[in-house]
Amino acid sequence: VRQTKSDWTWFRGSFKEVSETLASRGVCPVRPDSEPFLGRTLLVFHGKAHADRRRLESALFDKEALRSYELDILSPILESTFEELGEVGRDSDGMVRADLVPLTRSTLLRISTVLIGLDIDDKPESLAILASYLDYILVGTGLEWITGDLNEVLPVVLEYKRRYALEFVEPAVARRRQLIASWREGALDRKDLPLDVITLLLLHEEAIDDEALLRECILFLSASTRTTSSAVIHTISELNGWFDLHPNDWALRLDRDFLRRAGMEALRLHPPSPALIRNTTEDVALKTGRCIEAGHMVALDLVGANRDPEAFGADPDDFNPWRNAKTRQYGHAFGSGPHTCLGLPLVLGTYARDDDKVDGTLVRFLRAFYEAGIQSDPERPPQPAPTDQGGYETFPVQFEML
Ligand code: HEM
Repeated sequence: VRQTKSDWTWFRGSFKEVSETLASRGVCPVRPDSEPFLGRTLLVFHGKAHADRRRLESALFDKEALRSYELDILSPILESTFEELGEVGRDSDGMVRADLVPLTRSTLLRISTVLIGLDIDDKPESLAILASYLDYILVGTGLEWITGDLNEVLPVVLEYKRRYALEFVEPAVARRRQLIASWREGALDRKDLPLDVITLLLLHEEAIDDEALLRECILFLSASTRTTSSAVIHTISELNGWFDLHPNDWALRLDRDFLRRAGMEALRLHPPSPALIRNTTEDVALKTGRCIEAGHMVALDLVGANRDPEAFGADPDDFNPWRNAKTRQYGHAFGSGPHTCLGLPLVLGTYARDDDKVDGTLVRFLRAFYEAGIQSDPERPPQPAPTDQGGYETFPVQFEML
């Protein structure tokens, strides 16, 4: 059976209208084309099932876990990655060159494996294999937005879903089942069980089937890599232009607050998907008088809402880290309402929550790159990815200080 890509009605509204719609109980998230990857996950659950699963998985983002992902995992990996690049990535002219797409994705993958509970052995090959599968799985989780033929792409990405299941998820699930059995028999302390997606689901949702478990492992794999990688790269790209026009701000390239503002601004202009897709289960009557009727699949335009002059000022299409927005500077980049991104504090840090500041992965990457003297590579322009999600296929750079 040939599949055609799903069709939806676009809803282009103001920032407030999109907030109101996303918060409405009459809308239900849907992933019409990427259903074999994301169907029956947290992302598309609704009502009580969603609230229960979300509460359970929020444990992965408590203060201690956030600190550990950033300081115990990401920081040392960034250091060793730069060391390695300095040794093996140097060209004959002495300059170290790299592509930011695989570089950021494979670095983030180390957090993902801990968060999901995939046991990656010490062999660097295992991580490289997972990184190579990730590229295809990310296409699978974004099938709504591919520009190619769905019928050609689908069998390929499903094959990589199968390999991810067989080689990574199934062994991890088996190991965790054993650990849980040991704990139940009294041979292991509760505190010695790992804190990860797989363990949480096996412990608290005993009836969960293997396919649902696999898809949750796909959700966390894709949610924790593509979005952050793309945010880092868009920020670097936008800052290149900003520093050309505002040379005085170059002095702030290691400043946490400036970089955080720049990251939020890049996210506003380049949200990870052009729209969030929802089925309307009842009429959604908005305060402005507009109504989205029940029984439709609507794509809520994030790019437009994030450039609403009412919320973001008179020059909403421009990148301006110093923007004085009336609302959160990143707009709807992390969604809004009950499905607001669970990984937000990991990306943007815990500034507002406590004194023990964790920078967030976005600022941590940006600082590391500017410390290493990142520059665009004049010989190799970036290539856009073949999707309407707006990311890059390649983003070559060079590092002056390595
Ligand atoms: C710059 C980085 C990120 C951006 C822009 C982003 C964006 C989003 C958006 C827009 C949604 C809402 C989707 C919808 O309503 O249909 C979402 C949900 C989600 N994100 Fe993120 N995300 C980022 C990073 C992360 C990270 C690092 C993780 C995990 C480690 C993560 C985990 C999730 C999860 C689990 C959900 C589903 C929440 C729910 O449905 O209740 N995200 N994200």
